[in-house]
Amino acid sequence: MASIKVRQNGPYLVDGDDVTLLDWNGVSYPIPRRPFALCRCGGSSTKPFCDGTHSRIGFAAAQAAVPNSQDRPASADR
Ligand code: FES
Repeated sequence: MASIKVRQNGPYLVDGDDVTLLDWNGVSYPIPRRPFALCRCGGSSTKPFCDGTHSRIGFAAAQAAVPNSQDRPASADR
């Protein structure tokens, strides 16, 4: 089973052996270990992965869970 944990003021932590991370061309990224962290702050130099920059830039996320938040699916071509 896959899981994605939103770290406080940090990355998305992705776990699960059945998770594949693909770029926009459908090419998979090598995942050397699990769980792996995806950048949420926008500052990583190794996107889409987290490189720890969020700590250095003082990334502060919004509240843990925004009330009434819901998924707004992106179009398939983005
Ligand atoms: S969340 Fe870690 S570098 Fe962006």
